[in-house]
Amino acid sequence: MRRSLLSAPVLLALLVAAPAAQAVNGGRAATQDFPAMTALELDGSFRCGATLIHPEVVLTAAHCVLEGDDPVAAQRLTFLIGRRLLDDDSAGEVRRGAQVTVHESYGKPAPNSNDVALVRLTQRSGQEPMGILPPDQRARWSPGTEVKVIGWGARLPIGLLATNQLQEAHVPVVSDPGCANAYGSDFDARTMVCAGRTGRDACQGDSGGPLMTLDADTRRPRQIGVVSFGFGCGFPGAPGVYARVADTPLHSWIAARVPLGAQAGGGGDGASASGNLIHPAKLAIARARIDRSDRELDVLAPITGRASGEVTVALRAAGRTHRFTAPVDSANRRIRFTERIPAEQARKGSGILTISYPGDGDTRPQELRLRAAPRGARLDLDRPTLSSGGRLRAKGTITSRARGLVRVGLSYVHQGTTRVVERNARIKDGRWRLNVRLPAEDVARIGARTGTVQSTTAFTGYLRERLRGEARAFRVLGAR
Ligand code: ARG
Repeated sequence: MRRSLLSAPVLLALLVAAPAAQAVNGGRAATQDFPAMTALELDGSFRCGATLIHPEVVLTAAHCVLEGDDPVAAQRLTFLIGRRLLDDDSAGEVRRGAQVTVHESYGKPAPNSNDVALVRLTQRSGQEPMGILPPDQRARWSPGTEVKVIGWGARLPIGLLATNQLQEAHVPVVSDPGCANAYGSDFDARTMVCAGRTGRDACQGDSGGPLMTLDADTRRPRQIGVVSFGFGCGFPGAPGVYARVADTPLHSWIAARVPLGAQAGGGGDGASASGNLIHPAKLAIARARIDRSDRELDVLAPITGRASGEVTVALRAAGRTHRFTAPVDSANRRIRFTERIPAEQARKGSGILTISYPGDGDTRPQELRLRAAPRGARLDLDRPTLSSGGRLRAKGTITSRARGLVRVGLSYVHQGTTRVVERNARIKDGRWRLNVRLPAEDVARIGARTGTVQSTTAFTGYLRERLRGEARAFRVLGAR
Protein backbone atom coordinates (compact mmCIF):
# COMPACT_ATOMS: atom_id res chain seq x y z
CA MET A 1 0.00 0.00 0.00
CA ARG A 2 2.84 2.31 0.65
CA ARG A 3 4.47 1.85 -2.69
CA SER A 4 3.17 1.13 -6.13
CA LEU A 5 4.75 -2.19 -6.85
CA LEU A 6 2.73 -2.79 -9.94
CA SER A 7 2.13 -0.56 -12.92
CA ALA A 8 -1.27 1.07 -13.26
CA PRO A 9 -2.65 -1.20 -16.02
CA VAL A 10 -1.68 -4.34 -14.11
CA LEU A 11 -3.25 -2.91 -11.00
CA LEU A 12 -6.49 -2.17 -12.81
CA ALA A 13 -6.58 -5.67 -14.20
CA LEU A 14 -6.13 -7.04 -10.70
CA LEU A 15 -8.89 -4.93 -9.26
CA VAL A 16 -11.22 -6.33 -11.80
CA ALA A 17 -9.89 -9.83 -11.31
CA ALA A 18 -10.14 -9.88 -7.50
CA PRO A 19 -13.63 -11.19 -6.89
CA ALA A 20 -15.10 -9.03 -4.19
CA ALA A 21 -17.34 -11.69 -2.74
CA GLN A 22 -14.53 -13.93 -1.61
CA ALA A 23 -11.91 -11.29 -1.23
CA VAL A 24 -11.28 -9.87 2.14
CA ASN A 25 -11.59 -12.01 5.20
CA GLY A 26 -12.89 -14.79 3.06
CA GLY A 27 -16.31 -13.24 3.67
CA ARG A 28 -17.12 -15.38 6.70
CA ALA A 29 -18.42 -14.49 10.15
CA ALA A 30 -16.24 -15.60 13.07
CA THR A 31 -17.08 -19.18 13.99
CA GLN A 32 -16.22 -18.97 17.68
CA ASP A 33 -16.04 -16.38 20.44
CA PHE A 34 -12.84 -14.40 20.89
CA PRO A 35 -13.16 -12.79 24.33
CA ALA A 36 -9.83 -10.97 23.95
CA MET A 37 -10.70 -9.45 20.56
CA THR A 38 -10.99 -5.71 20.91
CA ALA A 39 -12.21 -2.82 18.80
CA LEU A 40 -10.17 0.35 19.22
CA GLU A 41 -12.08 3.61 18.91
CA LEU A 42 -10.52 7.03 18.59
CA ASP A 43 -12.75 9.90 19.72
CA GLY A 44 -15.67 7.48 19.65
CA SER A 45 -15.27 6.11 16.14
CA PHE A 46 -14.01 2.73 15.12
CA ARG A 47 -10.43 2.80 13.97
CA CYS A 48 -8.63 -0.52 14.43
CA GLY A 49 -8.52 -3.95 15.98
CA ALA A 50 -6.53 -4.80 19.12
CA THR A 51 -6.05 -7.73 21.51
CA LEU A 52 -6.29 -7.94 25.27
CA ILE A 53 -2.98 -9.59 26.25
CA HIS A 54 -3.14 -8.90 30.01
CA PRO A 55 -6.10 -7.86 32.21
CA GLU A 56 -4.87 -4.26 31.99
CA VAL A 57 -3.14 -4.07 28.61
CA VAL A 58 -4.11 -4.27 24.93
CA LEU A 59 -1.75 -4.82 22.02
CA THR A 60 -2.39 -3.02 18.74
CA ALA A 61 -0.47 -1.64 15.75
CA ALA A 62 1.68 1.46 16.23
CA HIS A 63 0.07 3.15 13.22
CA CYS A 64 -3.35 2.78 14.92
CA VAL A 65 -2.43 5.12 17.78
CA LEU A 66 -0.29 7.67 15.96
CA GLU A 67 -1.26 11.01 14.55
CA GLY A 68 1.65 12.04 12.39
CA ASP A 69 4.66 11.22 14.51
CA ASP A 70 2.91 11.59 17.85
CA PRO A 71 0.99 9.06 19.90
CA VAL A 72 -2.62 10.14 20.50
CA ALA A 73 -3.61 11.05 24.07
CA ALA A 74 -4.68 7.87 25.87
CA GLN A 75 -7.98 9.43 27.05
CA ARG A 76 -9.13 9.66 23.42
CA LEU A 77 -9.06 5.86 23.10
CA THR A 78 -11.94 3.53 23.95
CA PHE A 79 -11.76 -0.25 23.80
CA LEU A 80 -14.69 -2.57 23.17
CA ILE A 81 -13.44 -5.89 24.48
CA GLY A 82 -15.05 -9.24 23.68
CA ARG A 83 -17.76 -8.10 21.26
CA ARG A 84 -18.80 -9.93 18.15
CA LEU A 85 -21.17 -7.26 16.81
CA LEU A 86 -19.55 -3.85 16.88
CA ASP A 87 -22.80 -2.10 17.78
CA ASP A 88 -23.88 -4.56 20.49
CA ASP A 89 -23.51 -2.46 23.66
CA SER A 90 -24.68 -5.32 25.85
CA ALA A 91 -21.75 -7.62 25.01
CA GLY A 92 -18.26 -7.66 26.51
CA GLU A 93 -16.73 -4.67 28.23
CA VAL A 94 -15.85 -1.07 27.49
CA ARG A 95 -12.56 0.31 28.81
CA ARG A 96 -10.64 3.55 28.38
CA GLY A 97 -6.97 4.10 27.62
CA ALA A 98 -4.64 5.19 30.42
CA GLN A 99 -1.23 5.11 28.78
CA VAL A 100 0.00 4.59 25.23
CA THR A 101 3.42 3.05 24.52
CA VAL A 102 4.45 3.03 20.85
CA HIS A 103 7.49 1.01 19.79
CA GLU A 104 10.39 3.47 19.78
CA SER A 105 11.69 2.05 16.48
CA TYR A 106 8.41 2.08 14.59
CA GLY A 107 9.19 2.93 10.95
CA LYS A 108 12.87 1.87 11.22
CA PRO A 109 14.51 0.39 9.21
CA ALA A 110 11.57 -0.18 6.81
CA PRO A 111 8.59 2.23 6.74
CA ASN A 112 6.36 -0.19 8.71
CA SER A 113 8.95 -1.99 10.85
CA ASN A 114 8.08 -2.57 14.52
CA ASP A 115 4.39 -1.78 14.01
CA VAL A 116 3.27 -2.46 17.60
CA ALA A 117 1.93 -0.41 20.50
CA LEU A 118 0.65 -1.20 23.99
CA VAL A 119 -2.17 0.62 25.71
CA ARG A 120 -2.73 0.29 29.43
CA LEU A 121 -6.37 0.48 30.47
CA THR A 122 -7.75 2.60 33.29
CA GLN A 123 -9.50 -0.43 34.72
CA ARG A 124 -8.86 -4.16 34.58
CA SER A 125 -10.82 -6.29 32.18
CA GLY A 126 -12.45 -9.54 33.23
CA GLN A 127 -12.17 -11.05 29.74
CA GLU A 128 -9.59 -13.76 29.27
CA PRO A 129 -6.45 -12.30 27.67
CA MET A 130 -5.02 -13.91 24.54
CA GLY A 131 -1.60 -15.56 24.91
CA ILE A 132 1.19 -14.63 22.52
CA LEU A 133 3.16 -17.64 21.28
CA PRO A 134 6.75 -17.58 22.57
CA PRO A 135 9.67 -17.59 20.08
CA ASP A 136 10.42 -21.28 20.69
CA GLN A 137 7.07 -22.21 19.09
CA ARG A 138 7.94 -21.09 15.57
CA ALA A 139 7.14 -24.55 14.23
CA ARG A 140 3.48 -23.73 14.86
CA TRP A 141 3.53 -21.04 12.19
CA SER A 142 6.06 -22.34 9.69
CA PRO A 143 5.47 -21.31 6.04
CA GLY A 144 2.37 -22.91 4.59
CA THR A 145 0.60 -23.35 7.95
CA GLU A 146 -3.03 -22.22 7.86
CA VAL A 147 -3.65 -19.57 10.50
CA LYS A 148 -6.50 -17.21 11.22
CA VAL A 149 -7.00 -13.46 11.14
CA ILE A 150 -10.08 -11.70 12.54
CA GLY A 151 -11.39 -8.17 12.35
CA TRP A 152 -14.14 -5.74 11.54
CA GLY A 153 -12.22 -4.38 8.56
CA ALA A 154 -13.45 -3.86 5.04
CA ARG A 155 -14.68 -6.85 3.06
CA LEU A 156 -14.08 -5.36 -0.34
CA PRO A 157 -10.59 -5.25 -1.82
CA ILE A 158 -10.41 -1.48 -1.88
CA GLY A 159 -13.23 -0.73 0.50
CA LEU A 160 -13.00 1.43 3.58
CA LEU A 161 -16.16 0.45 5.39
CA ALA A 162 -16.02 -1.55 8.57
CA THR A 163 -18.36 -4.49 8.99
CA ASN A 164 -20.61 -4.84 12.04
CA GLN A 165 -20.07 -8.54 12.43
CA LEU A 166 -16.62 -9.85 13.36
CA GLN A 167 -15.12 -11.62 10.32
CA GLU A 168 -12.46 -14.27 10.03
CA ALA A 169 -10.22 -15.53 7.26
CA HIS A 170 -7.99 -18.58 7.04
CA VAL A 171 -4.66 -17.61 5.59
CA PRO A 172 -1.45 -19.54 4.92
CA VAL A 173 1.80 -18.22 6.42
CA VAL A 174 4.12 -17.05 3.63
CA SER A 175 7.88 -17.68 3.85
CA ASP A 176 10.20 -14.72 4.45
CA PRO A 177 11.86 -15.02 1.02
CA GLY A 178 8.40 -15.26 -0.55
CA CYS A 179 7.36 -12.09 1.18
CA ALA A 180 10.59 -10.28 0.34
CA ASN A 181 9.78 -11.17 -3.24
CA ALA A 182 6.46 -9.39 -2.99
CA TYR A 183 7.51 -6.33 -1.01
CA GLY A 184 11.26 -5.90 -1.61
CA SER A 185 12.94 -3.70 0.97
CA ASP A 186 9.60 -2.77 2.54
CA PHE A 187 9.63 -6.24 4.06
CA ASP A 188 11.68 -6.45 7.26
CA ALA A 189 11.89 -10.13 8.24
CA ARG A 190 13.00 -9.32 11.78
CA THR A 191 9.76 -7.58 12.71
CA MET A 192 7.29 -8.72 10.03
CA VAL A 193 5.70 -11.96 8.87
CA CYS A 194 3.36 -12.44 5.91
CA ALA A 195 0.23 -14.50 5.44
CA GLY A 196 -2.49 -14.70 2.84
CA ARG A 197 -3.36 -15.86 -0.64
CA THR A 198 -5.36 -14.44 -3.47
CA GLY A 199 -8.78 -13.47 -2.16
CA ARG A 200 -7.96 -14.27 1.45
CA ASP A 201 -6.48 -11.45 3.43
CA ALA A 202 -7.05 -8.81 6.02
CA CYS A 203 -7.90 -5.30 4.86
CA GLN A 204 -8.34 -1.67 5.91
CA GLY A 205 -9.77 -1.55 9.41
CA ASP A 206 -8.28 -4.89 10.43
CA SER A 207 -5.02 -3.27 11.49
CA GLY A 208 -4.01 -3.83 15.08
CA GLY A 209 -5.99 -7.07 15.29
CA PRO A 210 -4.54 -10.55 15.78
CA LEU A 211 -3.18 -13.20 13.46
CA MET A 212 -3.54 -16.42 15.43
CA THR A 213 -3.15 -20.14 15.56
CA LEU A 214 -5.65 -22.20 17.54
CA ASP A 215 -4.61 -24.83 20.08
CA ALA A 216 -5.62 -28.16 18.56
CA ASP A 217 -7.45 -29.50 21.61
CA THR A 218 -9.10 -26.44 23.17
CA ARG A 219 -9.30 -24.13 20.11
CA ARG A 220 -7.86 -21.40 22.29
CA PRO A 221 -6.30 -18.70 20.15
CA ARG A 222 -2.61 -17.85 20.45
CA GLN A 223 -1.36 -14.70 18.81
CA ILE A 224 1.38 -14.73 16.17
CA GLY A 225 0.99 -11.40 14.42
CA VAL A 226 -0.63 -7.97 14.44
CA VAL A 227 -2.31 -6.80 11.20
CA SER A 228 -0.02 -4.13 9.77
CA PHE A 229 -0.20 -3.44 6.02
CA GLY A 230 -0.57 -4.88 2.55
CA PHE A 231 -0.70 -3.89 -1.09
CA GLY A 232 -4.41 -3.77 -1.73
CA CYS A 233 -6.26 -6.62 -0.08
CA GLY A 234 -6.21 -10.20 -1.30
CA PHE A 235 -4.35 -9.29 -4.48
CA PRO A 236 -2.41 -12.07 -6.19
CA GLY A 237 1.24 -12.09 -5.12
CA ALA A 238 0.69 -9.50 -2.35
CA PRO A 239 0.05 -11.24 0.97
CA GLY A 240 -0.90 -9.34 4.13
CA VAL A 241 1.96 -8.20 6.33
CA TYR A 242 1.85 -8.59 10.12
CA ALA A 243 4.01 -7.45 13.03
CA ARG A 244 5.98 -10.55 14.05
CA VAL A 245 5.05 -10.63 17.75
CA ALA A 246 5.63 -14.35 18.35
CA ASP A 247 9.31 -14.02 17.52
CA THR A 248 12.27 -12.06 18.86
CA PRO A 249 12.77 -9.08 18.92
CA LEU A 250 9.12 -7.98 19.17
CA HIS A 251 8.19 -10.72 21.61
CA SER A 252 10.98 -9.56 23.94
CA TRP A 253 9.88 -5.95 23.56
CA ILE A 254 6.38 -6.87 24.69
CA ALA A 255 7.49 -9.28 27.42
CA ALA A 256 9.75 -6.59 28.88
CA ARG A 257 6.71 -4.36 29.38
CA VAL A 258 3.87 -6.72 30.15
CA PRO A 259 3.97 -9.89 32.23
CA LEU A 260 2.91 -12.57 29.79
CA GLY A 261 2.37 -16.23 30.49
CA ALA A 262 -0.45 -17.96 32.27
CA GLN A 263 -3.67 -16.04 31.82
CA ALA A 264 -4.82 -14.20 34.88
CA GLY A 265 -8.57 -14.25 35.09
CA GLY A 266 -9.38 -10.60 35.76
CA GLY A 267 -11.26 -9.71 38.90
CA GLY A 268 -8.87 -10.10 41.81
CA ASP A 269 -8.65 -7.27 44.24
CA GLY A 270 -8.82 -4.71 41.52
CA ALA A 271 -5.40 -3.13 41.26
CA SER A 272 -5.96 -0.78 38.39
CA ALA A 273 -4.76 2.58 37.31
CA SER A 274 -1.74 2.50 39.62
CA GLY A 275 0.47 1.29 36.78
CA ASN A 276 1.66 -1.49 39.02
CA LEU A 277 1.12 -4.51 36.84
CA ILE A 278 3.27 -6.97 38.70
CA HIS A 279 2.67 -8.02 42.25
CA PRO A 280 4.97 -10.11 44.38
CA ALA A 281 3.85 -13.63 45.22
CA LYS A 282 5.21 -13.44 48.81
CA LEU A 283 5.81 -17.15 48.88
CA ALA A 284 7.20 -18.32 52.23
CA ILE A 285 7.54 -21.77 53.68
CA ALA A 286 6.11 -22.25 57.12
CA ARG A 287 6.66 -25.95 57.27
CA ALA A 288 8.65 -28.44 55.20
CA ARG A 289 8.67 -31.57 57.29
CA ILE A 290 9.92 -34.99 56.32
CA ASP A 291 8.09 -37.75 58.13
CA ARG A 292 10.43 -40.72 58.06
CA SER A 293 8.03 -43.40 59.16
CA ASP A 294 5.20 -42.38 56.81
CA ARG A 295 7.65 -41.62 53.95
CA GLU A 296 6.01 -38.26 53.48
CA LEU A 297 7.00 -34.69 52.78
CA ASP A 298 4.55 -32.32 54.43
CA VAL A 299 4.57 -28.70 53.27
CA LEU A 300 2.64 -25.60 54.20
CA ALA A 301 3.60 -22.42 52.38
CA PRO A 302 1.67 -19.14 52.56
CA ILE A 303 1.38 -17.17 49.32
CA THR A 304 -0.65 -14.10 48.30
CA GLY A 305 -4.26 -14.61 47.25
CA ARG A 306 -3.45 -13.12 43.84
CA ALA A 307 -1.23 -16.06 43.00
CA SER A 308 -2.90 -18.92 41.19
CA GLY A 309 -2.11 -22.04 39.21
CA GLU A 310 0.63 -24.43 40.24
CA VAL A 311 4.07 -24.51 41.76
CA THR A 312 6.74 -26.97 40.79
CA VAL A 313 8.48 -28.73 43.65
CA ALA A 314 11.79 -30.59 43.74
CA LEU A 315 13.19 -32.50 46.70
CA ARG A 316 16.91 -33.19 46.37
CA ALA A 317 18.05 -35.85 48.83
CA ALA A 318 19.92 -39.15 48.90
CA GLY A 319 21.51 -38.48 45.52
CA ARG A 320 18.28 -38.07 43.61
CA THR A 321 15.66 -35.46 42.83
CA HIS A 322 11.98 -36.10 43.29
CA ARG A 323 9.87 -33.66 41.23
CA PHE A 324 6.16 -32.93 41.19
CA THR A 325 3.66 -30.08 40.96
CA ALA A 326 1.25 -28.78 43.59
CA PRO A 327 -1.75 -26.48 43.21
CA VAL A 328 -1.95 -22.99 44.69
CA ASP A 329 -4.98 -22.73 46.96
CA SER A 330 -5.81 -19.08 46.17
CA ALA A 331 -8.91 -18.99 48.39
CA ASN A 332 -6.88 -19.88 51.48
CA ARG A 333 -3.75 -18.09 50.29
CA ARG A 334 -1.49 -21.06 50.63
CA ILE A 335 0.11 -24.11 49.12
CA ARG A 336 -0.43 -27.19 51.18
CA PHE A 337 0.41 -30.76 50.29
CA THR A 338 1.59 -34.10 51.59
CA GLU A 339 3.70 -35.97 49.06
CA ARG A 340 4.81 -39.58 49.25
CA ILE A 341 8.61 -39.60 48.74
CA PRO A 342 11.06 -42.34 47.69
CA ALA A 343 12.10 -44.65 50.54
CA GLU A 344 15.80 -43.68 50.47
CA GLN A 345 14.90 -39.99 50.74
CA ALA A 346 12.66 -40.67 53.71
CA ARG A 347 15.43 -42.70 55.34
CA LYS A 348 17.86 -39.83 54.89
CA GLY A 349 15.35 -37.60 56.64
CA SER A 350 16.49 -34.29 55.22
CA GLY A 351 17.08 -32.69 51.84
CA ILE A 352 16.93 -29.47 49.86
CA LEU A 353 13.48 -28.44 48.82
CA THR A 354 12.90 -26.02 45.94
CA ILE A 355 9.47 -24.54 45.36
CA SER A 356 9.05 -22.43 42.23
CA TYR A 357 6.09 -20.26 41.50
CA PRO A 358 6.23 -19.45 37.76
CA GLY A 359 4.26 -16.20 38.05
CA ASP A 360 1.12 -15.40 36.13
CA GLY A 361 -0.47 -12.45 34.37
CA ASP A 362 -0.03 -10.22 37.39
CA THR A 363 2.06 -11.98 39.98
CA ARG A 364 5.80 -12.17 39.64
CA PRO A 365 7.73 -15.44 39.72
CA GLN A 366 9.48 -16.57 42.87
CA GLU A 367 11.66 -19.46 43.93
CA LEU A 368 12.46 -20.68 47.43
CA ARG A 369 15.18 -23.14 48.40
CA LEU A 370 15.22 -24.55 51.88
CA ARG A 371 16.14 -27.60 53.84
CA ALA A 372 13.31 -30.02 54.52
CA ALA A 373 13.87 -31.96 57.73
CA PRO A 374 11.95 -33.27 60.73
CA ARG A 375 12.42 -30.32 63.09
CA GLY A 376 11.85 -26.60 62.58
CA ALA A 377 14.44 -23.86 62.97
CA ARG A 378 12.09 -21.11 64.22
CA LEU A 379 13.40 -18.14 62.30
CA ASP A 380 12.31 -14.77 63.66
CA LEU A 381 12.82 -11.29 62.32
CA ASP A 382 11.38 -7.83 61.87
CA ARG A 383 10.74 -6.34 58.49
CA PRO A 384 14.12 -5.70 56.79
CA THR A 385 14.82 -2.07 55.86
CA LEU A 386 16.48 -0.49 52.86
CA SER A 387 17.82 3.05 53.24
CA SER A 388 17.74 5.50 50.35
CA GLY A 389 21.51 5.15 50.15
CA GLY A 390 21.06 1.44 49.46
CA ARG A 391 21.92 -0.01 52.85
CA LEU A 392 20.06 -3.20 53.64
CA ARG A 393 19.59 -4.01 57.32
CA ALA A 394 17.95 -7.01 58.92
CA LYS A 395 18.33 -8.97 62.10
CA GLY A 396 16.59 -11.65 64.09
CA THR A 397 16.84 -14.84 66.04
CA ILE A 398 16.84 -18.52 65.24
CA THR A 399 16.99 -21.77 67.20
CA SER A 400 20.33 -21.85 68.97
CA ARG A 401 21.17 -25.24 67.44
CA ALA A 402 20.98 -23.70 63.96
CA ARG A 403 24.21 -23.58 61.97
CA GLY A 404 24.69 -22.14 58.55
CA LEU A 405 23.30 -19.04 56.96
CA VAL A 406 20.30 -16.81 56.93
CA ARG A 407 19.85 -15.44 53.44
CA VAL A 408 17.99 -12.21 52.73
CA GLY A 409 16.81 -11.72 49.16
CA LEU A 410 15.22 -8.61 47.70
CA SER A 411 13.12 -8.87 44.58
CA TYR A 412 11.84 -6.07 42.41
CA VAL A 413 10.72 -5.59 38.84
CA HIS A 414 12.93 -3.68 36.46
CA GLN A 415 11.83 -3.18 32.84
CA GLY A 416 9.39 -6.02 33.08
CA THR A 417 11.70 -8.66 34.52
CA THR A 418 12.02 -9.74 38.12
CA ARG A 419 15.46 -9.19 39.64
CA VAL A 420 16.73 -10.66 42.87
CA VAL A 421 19.69 -9.52 45.01
CA GLU A 422 20.67 -11.88 47.80
CA ARG A 423 22.98 -11.43 50.78
CA ASN A 424 23.97 -13.86 53.52
CA ALA A 425 23.99 -13.14 57.24
CA ARG A 426 26.08 -15.11 59.66
CA ILE A 427 24.39 -16.88 62.57
CA LYS A 428 25.94 -16.68 66.03
CA ASP A 429 24.45 -18.10 69.21
CA GLY A 430 20.88 -17.98 68.03
CA ARG A 431 21.13 -14.47 66.55
CA TRP A 432 21.81 -13.21 63.08
CA ARG A 433 22.36 -9.77 61.64
CA LEU A 434 22.85 -8.24 58.21
CA ASN A 435 24.03 -4.72 57.40
CA VAL A 436 25.34 -4.35 53.84
CA ARG A 437 25.44 -1.78 51.08
CA LEU A 438 23.89 -3.01 47.83
CA PRO A 439 25.68 -2.50 44.50
CA ALA A 440 25.04 0.91 42.90
CA GLU A 441 23.47 -0.82 39.91
CA ASP A 442 20.78 -2.44 42.04
CA VAL A 443 20.17 0.77 43.97
CA ALA A 444 19.62 2.61 40.69
CA ARG A 445 17.31 -0.09 39.33
CA ILE A 446 15.33 -0.16 42.56
CA GLY A 447 14.94 3.59 42.22
CA ALA A 448 13.53 3.07 38.72
CA ARG A 449 11.43 0.01 39.56
CA THR A 450 7.79 -0.66 38.85
CA GLY A 451 5.85 -2.03 41.80
CA THR A 452 7.16 -2.99 45.22
CA VAL A 453 10.41 -4.27 46.64
CA GLN A 454 9.84 -7.53 48.42
CA SER A 455 12.12 -9.41 50.78
CA THR A 456 12.33 -13.11 51.45
CA THR A 457 14.45 -14.11 54.43
CA ALA A 458 15.25 -17.78 54.73
CA PHE A 459 17.23 -20.07 56.95
CA THR A 460 18.45 -22.48 54.34
CA GLY A 461 19.99 -24.94 56.77
CA TYR A 462 22.69 -26.00 54.36
CA LEU A 463 24.81 -27.57 57.03
CA ARG A 464 24.16 -31.16 57.95
CA GLU A 465 21.57 -30.21 60.47
CA ARG A 466 18.34 -32.02 60.85
CA LEU A 467 16.68 -28.65 61.10
CA ARG A 468 14.26 -27.66 58.41
CA GLY A 469 14.35 -24.38 56.60
CA GLU A 470 12.14 -21.48 57.48
CA ALA A 471 11.31 -18.40 55.44
CA ARG A 472 9.49 -15.12 55.93
CA ALA A 473 8.39 -12.63 53.30
CA PHE A 474 7.87 -8.88 53.75
CA ARG A 475 7.34 -5.89 51.64
CA VAL A 476 10.33 -3.58 52.05
CA LEU A 477 9.42 -0.62 49.82
CA GLY A 478 5.99 0.34 48.50
CA ALA A 479 4.71 0.52 44.96
CA ARG A 480 5.70 3.33 42.63
N1 ARG B 1 -3.18 -0.72 7.39
C1 ARG B 1 -4.48 -1.30 7.40
C2 ARG B 1 -5.29 -0.76 8.56
O1 ARG B 1 -4.93 0.24 9.10
C3 ARG B 1 -4.42 -2.79 7.39
C4 ARG B 1 -4.15 -3.28 6.05
C5 ARG B 1 -3.99 -4.74 5.98
N2 ARG B 1 -3.97 -5.06 4.60
C6 ARG B 1 -3.80 -6.26 4.11
N3 ARG B 1 -3.86 -6.42 2.84
N4 ARG B 1 -3.63 -7.26 4.89
O2 ARG B 1 -6.35 -1.25 8.85
